[in-house]
Amino acid sequence: MHFLKSINFTSAFILVTLIVVLDFVHGFTEKNVIDSPLLTQKMGTNRTVTVDPNGQEDFKSVQAAVDHVPNGNSEWIIIHITKGVYREKVNIPHNKPYIFMRGDGRGKTSIVWSQSSVHNYDSATFKVEAPHFVVFGISFKNTAPAVITRKMENNKSVAVFVGADKVAFYQCAFFSNQNTLFDYKGRHYYDNCYIQGSIDFIFGRGQAMFHDCELFVIANSRDEIRGSITANYRQRHSESSGFVFVKGKVYGTGDVYLGTAKGAHSRVVFANTYLSRTVIPHGWTNLSYPGSTHNLYHAEYRCHGPGSGSGNRAHWSKQLTDVDAAPFLSVDFIEGQDWLPAWL
Ligand SMILES: *[C@@H]1O[C@H](CO)[C@@H](O)[C@H](O)[C@H]1NC(C)=O
Ligand SMILES: *[C@@H]1O[C@H](CO)[C@@H](O)[C@H](O)[C@H]1NC(C)=O
Ligand SMILES: *[C@@H]1O[C@H](CO)[C@@H](O)[C@H](O)[C@H]1NC(C)=O
Repeated sequence: MHFLKSINFTSAFILVTLIVVLDFVHGFTEKNVIDSPLLTQKMGTNRTVTVDPNGQEDFKSVQAAVDHVPNGNSEWIIIHITKGVYREKVNIPHNKPYIFMRGDGRGKTSIVWSQSSVHNYDSATFKVEAPHFVVFGISFKNTAPAVITRKMENNKSVAVFVGADKVAFYQCAFFSNQNTLFDYKGRHYYDNCYIQGSIDFIFGRGQAMFHDCELFVIANSRDEIRGSITANYRQRHSESSGFVFVKGKVYGTGDVYLGTAKGAHSRVVFANTYLSRTVIPHGWTNLSYPGSTHNLYHAEYRCHGPGSGSGNRAHWSKQLTDVDAAPFLSVDFIEGQDWLPAWL
């Protein structure tokens, strides 16, 4: 009897412990995801228009909903894009700020176009030219096939062009075979996004933080041209441009560099990121960059995984100390506390 009681007591104790642990994990997970209800609450608006592909709601196309936003808009407006595939090019013009574009999830709402051009900007499926633009849960695709020749004037097929300040993407996905994400200028935040591409597929002179993003490389190992994940175009030390990746992972097929030099002061940092074997030991490249590598800021901090070994890295690249890395590890790098609705 005594013995049984003691068993019961032990089981009860285990059960309680389990509940406490599970509850803790649950709370922990919840706290660390920026989801659609949280963002909606942060926007504090009840101006919402809805787009659906069958024309049952306010608008049938995304662009029609954007056109409906008044020029010089100064209060948040939610454009809810219900699940479906929207086959159109979309442009958010500079005079329509404060749009929160909310999809039903990146597997459910997608904006898709197929265009290849010698100009990155012209090819883009989705262009953001207005500041204060926030997106949640949308996939952006440019499905044009890659045109790879040995000449430099390859056609491009950009999925998203970001050419304005204070733009944030949460739980979005970006797909293209060539030049996926043109982070042209301004301060940007990408949280929990999936970005797929082959050669130099995150590029431009933007100032961007990628938090916990997945970068999937579809480079073909038989191609003669070895691509890079990033091509940051920072030309002067005084420019605030730079791409910072915190947490997240890099994986894929084929071999790839983390970054190539575009401007003399190109700045790219990978911190606490998982790097698979797809990242080649040399890590960084000056291929197609004729100038000195002295002012490049190609850096890593506490990365892990089979592609993270620093032994054979390019001689100009850096493994940062805690002190060096500190300015890149939080949204302060993009002054995010001043303008982001939410961050991790
Ligand atoms: C919601 O709309 C009502 C009337 O249309 C307005 O009075 C109210 O201030 C709005 N609330 C918010 C949070 O915008
Ligand atoms: C390359 O882009 C040009 C326009 O810039 C276009 O006319 C041409 O069709 C494109 N080539 C391919 C193979 O898509
Ligand atoms: C460019 O990279 C190659 C390979 O790492 C290296 O040998 C060369 O010194 C680099 N050029 C400069 C200017 O650092």
